[in-house]
Amino acid sequence: MASNGKFYLTTPIYYVNDAPHIGHAYTTVAGDVLTRWHRARGENVWFLTGTDEHGEKVMNTAAQNQVSPQEWCDRLVESAWKPVWEHLNIANDDFIRTTEERHETRVQRFLQGLKDQGHIYLGKYEGPYCIGCEEFKLPGDLDDNKCVVHGRPVEMLSEENWFFKLSAFVPALIERYTKNPGACEPASARNEVLAFLQGETPVTDLSISRSTFDWGIPVPWDTKQVIYVWFDALLNYATAVGLGDDPASEGGKKFAEFWPADVHLVGKDILRFHAVIWPAMLMAAGLPVPEKIFAHGWLLVGGEKMSKSKLTGIAPRDITDHFGVDAFRYYFLRAIPFGSDGSFSWEDMSARYTSELANDFGNLASRLIAMIEKYSGGKIPAVAHDPELSALLAQTVTAADDAILALDFQGGINAIMDFCKRVNGYVTEKEPWAVAKDETRTAELMDILYNTADSIRALAVLLHPIMPTTTEILWKSLGADQSMGPISEQRIGLVAKWGQLPEGSTVTKGAVLFPRLEEAEAK
Ligand code: ME8
Ligand code: MG
Repeated sequence: MASNGKFYLTTPIYYVNDAPHIGHAYTTVAGDVLTRWHRARGENVWFLTGTDEHGEKVMNTAAQNQVSPQEWCDRLVESAWKPVWEHLNIANDDFIRTTEERHETRVQRFLQGLKDQGHIYLGKYEGPYCIGCEEFKLPGDLDDNKCVVHGRPVEMLSEENWFFKLSAFVPALIERYTKNPGACEPASARNEVLAFLQGETPVTDLSISRSTFDWGIPVPWDTKQVIYVWFDALLNYATAVGLGDDPASEGGKKFAEFWPADVHLVGKDILRFHAVIWPAMLMAAGLPVPEKIFAHGWLLVGGEKMSKSKLTGIAPRDITDHFGVDAFRYYFLRAIPFGSDGSFSWEDMSARYTSELANDFGNLASRLIAMIEKYSGGKIPAVAHDPELSALLAQTVTAADDAILALDFQGGINAIMDFCKRVNGYVTEKEPWAVAKDETRTAELMDILYNTADSIRALAVLLHPIMPTTTEILWKSLGADQSMGPISEQRIGLVAKWGQLPEGSTVTKGAVLFPRLEEAEAK
């Protein structure tokens, strides 16, 4: 996180050749959780996502569907991409499309600047190209003339193109990743990038234009060519916040406020573009490079990367219809260490849903509300203080905050859910239902209820970035909305302060947070 308290995070901008699957949702949800967490720390957050609309892949898909590329993109963005992010409760601050004017003009200006400074020259590209990857390939990237990622034959290109002097930046990139390991994570990703930069095959200059089709941004000084789709796409992260605008203008101010990005979140499939080409482009322009590229692992189907091109994508709705949106947001970050590959399993998700969400969390909350209604007239009792729970809460907040800031979502969620388990243990050991039978022990009973309620108050705030809807329902049923203000305004730095839930708040029985799966099915 930057020292001035701002946090700018991006997801990849996805190709609109098809609708999103759970792999895209995985990245976008992770970005949403991380930015909600940073907002809950009181930081000035900017969260960008969007769509990558130029290039042959999208152009060919449009042609197959007998519409113009622009019509195709408009249709997919409006009917598939934006609705899925809305459905998943993604709170992005901006959504950039590479066919927008604000992007195209800034890209052209940037490229002209590089040309004027001598970083661009005319050359000839001869070699393989994979349309699935939209990538110029090296012989080592191919197997029997097929792209190893897409398993499809590559095209052989022979074109006069404009080139970017990428090779000139190799020493500076090596220095950056050697001296600043945090600039590319996890370590496996950094090692891969360093191996590529220091490998026996020298890094070559990059062709950054194409002349054989026209679905792209024209090269400003040679309009028979369009800008290579990756050169265009990578710039979105900077064009969206005003790249190159007059410092006194709105865009210029935004750029000064948010650039460089704090984290570019990507899948490991597109690591090299982000950790090699993109920072080199910025270095050439004399601009600061992103603080961190984080490459997470793949969701696999049958041991292979789930993919639009291979039609192995599972739509997020297929899962949310059954488990709900919050369980979807929770599951992948909880089950797969961020950075490793993982397979989606219906059985594993059902098991975690039932044990962690419905039993440990949902039941704890509904039992507490029921007991407060029954034993305390529906009002939060006087503030009590359990030293063990409050000390454990303080440790939990520190552990969760450290883990999530380091993008260890699994570690962060585990810390929070361990606290949840401990609160369940507390209730089981204290047996409030037994204490309630003894009229001389009312004070003790009220303390048990209070300690449980204030623990749940903390759990709601800590889980809010991960499960915004259910935690808000819970927050309201604790009466905390009235007594403490909206859950989204609660701060991570204050969660561990014990005794915040005010005496006398009225609790109300809300909807069941995580219905039994059989019931969900019957609906
Ligand atoms: O590469 N598992 O777009 P794209 C995990 N337009 N994440 C996955 C995934 C999977 N099986 N499949 C996709 C592009 N993703 C370019 C990006 S950025 C300037 C341009 C996620 O539609 C993951 O984040 O192919 C991956 O990097 C991204 O979607 C690729 O999306
Ligand atoms: Mg892809």
